Amino acid sequence: MKIVGIVCTPRIRGNSEILVKQVLDGATKAGAESEIIFIRDKKIQFCEGCLDCMKTGKCYLTDDMEEIGEKLVASDGIVIGVPTYWTIGGMGVTFLDRLLPYTASGKFANKLAAGIVVGARVAADTAAGVLRRLFIYSHMRPIECVAHYATATGDILKNDYAMKSAWEIGRLMVLFKENNNKYPDEYTYPFSNYIRKKYDIHAY
Ligand SMILES: Cc1cc2nc3c(=O)[nH]c(=O)nc-3n(C[C@H](O)[C@H](O)[C@H](O)COP(=O)(O)O)c2cc1C
Repeated sequence: MKIVGIVCTPRIRGNSEILVKQVLDGATKAGAESEIIFIRDKKIQFCEGCLDCMKTGKCYLTDDMEEIGEKLVASDGIVIGVPTYWTIGGMGVTFLDRLLPYTASGKFANKLAAGIVVGARVAADTAAGVLRRLFIYSHMRPIECVAHYATATGDILKNDYAMKSAWEIGRLMVLFKENNNKYPDEYTYPFSNYIRKKYDIHAY
């Protein structure tokens, strides 16, 4: 099983990046392979809105999106981490727009998904709503889509709930898949209750 993490923050070791790495660590410790892709290192042009991909399943632009798309299509699960900039920030929007050839042609259907959002104070849940929309549109199986709060680079490390629950999201992605796409018995609780029971940490 392979999980691919997509990091959409321009900040090196940004908060959303730290949490995506936690998810991947949880997944690899549970037996998955993983790969992390930093959108800031890639050349991705803006979607031009021609909508040809709705018919052809392909984008005519040639850039790094083709290689990323192939990796995502070959994966079993995708974790997307975004900072909140109004909603998901320009880097995240550009990336999501260019996923249309894959999402619209059903290439992500039934893949596991997790969404990670970090914001300073407001609208992080609006950003999480954007990722949820992607997952629903693509007929993916979202395991979790969470919003956490932090401002300066690395501040999220002080949030024990965010760190531990991100790690558990990765583990759960693997266990869910191994359990024939059903939540294993230990995870029948809502996720925050599971974290409280296991670590004695309260989400709120
Ligand atoms: C251009 C810009 C816009 C932002 N807009 C918001 C916002 O609307 N709401 C919010 O809570 N935080 C906002 N932030 C703060 C970031 O979401 C916050 O610093 C977050 O920790 C960044 O995550 P990262 O470290 O993964 O980049 C904004 C930051 C920038 C640079």
